[in-house]
Amino acid sequence: MEVEQVLHMNGGDGKRSYASNSLNPRAVISRVKPIVDASIEKLCYTHLPTECLKIADLGCSSGPNTLFAVSNIIDKIHKTCKKLNWQPPTLQVFLNDLPGNDFNTVFKSLPDFYKKLDEKKYIEPCFIAGMSGSFYGRLFPSNSLHFAHSSYSLMWISKVPKGLVTKGGEGLNKGNIYIAKTSSHAVFNEYFEQFKRDFTVFLRSRAQELVSGGSMVLTTMGSIRSNDPLSIWEFVGLKLHDMVLDGLIEEKKLDTFNMPYYAPTADEVKEVIEAEGSFILQNLETFRNDWDFYIKQVNCGFDKKARAAILSTDIRAVGEPILASEFGEKAMDDLFCRFEEDVLDHMEKENCQFIDLVISLTKQR
Ligand SMILES: C[S@@+](CC[C@H](N)C(=O)[O-])C[C@H]1O[C@@H](n2cnc3c(N)ncnc32)[C@H](O)[C@@H]1O
Repeated sequence: MEVEQVLHMNGGDGKRSYASNSLNPRAVISRVKPIVDASIEKLCYTHLPTECLKIADLGCSSGPNTLFAVSNIIDKIHKTCKKLNWQPPTLQVFLNDLPGNDFNTVFKSLPDFYKKLDEKKYIEPCFIAGMSGSFYGRLFPSNSLHFAHSSYSLMWISKVPKGLVTKGGEGLNKGNIYIAKTSSHAVFNEYFEQFKRDFTVFLRSRAQELVSGGSMVLTTMGSIRSNDPLSIWEFVGLKLHDMVLDGLIEEKKLDTFNMPYYAPTADEVKEVIEAEGSFILQNLETFRNDWDFYIKQVNCGFDKKARAAILSTDIRAVGEPILASEFGEKAMDDLFCRFEEDVLDHMEKENCQFIDLVISLTKQR
C-alpha cells in the first residue's frame, strides 16, 4: 500500500466529507491560536519589514479548517504591523497536502476568502497557492519560507513500517490496526523507528526551506506513554475484529493491515528535534481531552447517543478512504455502526482521551 496514493480525508462538502465533519481539528486550531500568535508576533519583530512574507500550511486538507488557521495567521500579522505602525508585507501562502486531497474544493473557496480579506481592508495583496506533495521531503526552494504551520497532520507517517509483516506474509500485529493492548513490544518499536525516520526528514526538509530564524508551530496527536494503547484506531481495530468473528472480513486482511499513523510522546518529539539539530524548541505543550469534548463544547445538550453518532461520522471522514482501500467500501457502514454503538462506553471505561502536542520551533541562526 502506497500511503501517498490512498491517504486523504473524505472530499467534497457532503454529509460524510471531512469538510462537514472536522469540528475536533477546528477546536484544536482555536486552542492553539495563542501559541501561533506568539510565534507570529516574534517572527514579525525579527523579519519585518520585508517585501513578501511566505507561509505554508502543511496537511491543509479541504474544508473550513483549511483557511481557518491561515486566516488567523494573516490577522495576527496585520495586528502586529498595526501595533508597530509598519506597512504589512505582501503575503504568499502555500496550502500543502498529498495529491489525493480535494484541492478543487479548496480552490473554489478562495474567491470568498479574498473577499473577506478585502472587507477587513487588508490592502497589501495575499497570494494563495496549492502545493501538492508529501511534507516528508522537499516542497519549497531553499531559504524561501518564513513560517510553517501544521495541524493534525504529522501523526500520519510516510509508510506502514515494513517490519509489521514478515517476508513470509505473516502479520506481527495480528488482530489490530495500530498499537493496541495486545500488540508486542516489537510492534511498538517498528512504529517508533518509522516515526523517528519520518520526523527527522520532515525537520531536515523544513530546515532547508525556512529562512534563518524562520519558525514553525506543529500540532499533532500524541500519547502520554510511548506504547499507550488508548488510541481511537485501537478501538476501530476492535470493531474490525468483531467483523472478522462474524465472518464479514477476512482474518488475514486484518492481521496484515496497519494504519500509517503514530502518536508520539512529548519526550519522543524532543529526542528527534535534539538529534536532528536544526531547530530550537521554543515551547512544547500537551493538551488532553475526552474523545467527545468538542461535541459537548458546541452543544452541551447532545445526549450520549447523539455524541457517539457525531464522533463516528467524524472518524469515518478521516479513516474511510484508507480503511475502504483495504476492507472494501461495503464494510464501512457496518463498521461505523458498530463503532457508534459503544464508543463512548469504551471511552468512559478505559479513560480514553485525545492527546495533542503543540510544538513551537525556530530555525537556528
Ligand atoms: C486530519 S487532516 C487535518 C487537516 C487540517 N490541517 C485540519 O486541521 O483540519 C490531515 C491531513 O494531513 C494530510 N497529510 C498526511 N500525510 C501527509 C504528508 N506526508 N504530506 C502532506 N499532507 C499529508 C492528509 O492528507 C490530511 O488532509
